[in-house]
Amino acid sequence: METLLEIKNLSKSFDLHNLGKHIRAVSSVDIQIKEGEFVGITGKSGSGKSTILKCIYGTYRIQQGSILYHSKKFGRINLAEATERELLYLRKHEIGYVSQFLNVMPRTTARQLVKQAILEMGDDHDLAEKETEKILAHFELDEELWDSYPTTFSGGEKLRLNIARAMVKKPRLLLLDEPTASLDHDSKIKVKLLIEQLMKEGTTMLGIFHDLEFMNHLCNQEYNIQNGVFSHSTSFTNS
Ligand SMILES: Nc1ncnc2c1ncn2[C@@H]1O[C@H](COP(=O)(O)OP(=O)(O)OP(=O)(O)O)[C@@H](O)[C@H]1O
Ligand SMILES: [Mg+2]
Repeated sequence: METLLEIKNLSKSFDLHNLGKHIRAVSSVDIQIKEGEFVGITGKSGSGKSTILKCIYGTYRIQQGSILYHSKKFGRINLAEATERELLYLRKHEIGYVSQFLNVMPRTTARQLVKQAILEMGDDHDLAEKETEKILAHFELDEELWDSYPTTFSGGEKLRLNIARAMVKKPRLLLLDEPTASLDHDSKIKVKLLIEQLMKEGTTMLGIFHDLEFMNHLCNQEYNIQNGVFSHSTSFTNS
């Protein structure tokens, strides 16, 4: 299998000018992900896990290192040097992201949010509408909520909507930041089912998990951050 994502020696720090502080969020990160793999990142709170995903997604620009991604459209591209336009294209068509904390557009209903995500892929309206209802139902989001604004949703409802919105696009690469953290057991199973289904359809996944036990048989590799040191702790060959 081809390498889909290769991160070499990535470091990210923040200068907080008003406080005169320099915060090192992560350093010396090396990750290699092959097409079709499910890769997990674990580590303590504040160790820099979310920062890594945000660097890949282009939310944060990095000071050092490279993030080589094998794009369908652009071929091999260093995301660390990609233009805003290239990043926008990739976010629409190739790279999905489920953020740890959902921030939703005001005055957009749950249905509109999901439908927009599908339409960005170029599907027609009727199909998009069908797919939207299918995935909202899969995550058992109460039908009464479909045409409401997610700002008033509970944490778990927001999270399920967020996951639905990212997954419905069937991206080439999906970044998941603790997608099951605040969900009950049944909802976790639903997420896992969709992860399995997406993997079958060829989506490669990089996810942050509190512990990987729940995802264990899906996981091909685990990376871990301990005391600021990033390491490759396990490769599973059983999948
Ligand atoms: N935009 C930012 N500005 C300043 N510091 C930041 C910023 N983003 C992250 N940091 C800092 O970088 C460090 C790593 O944060 P990050 O959110 O990546 O941790 P995490 O491993 O995802 O933690 P958690 O498990 O709690 O979500 C923290 O010390 C955090 O305060
Ligand atoms: Mg985090």
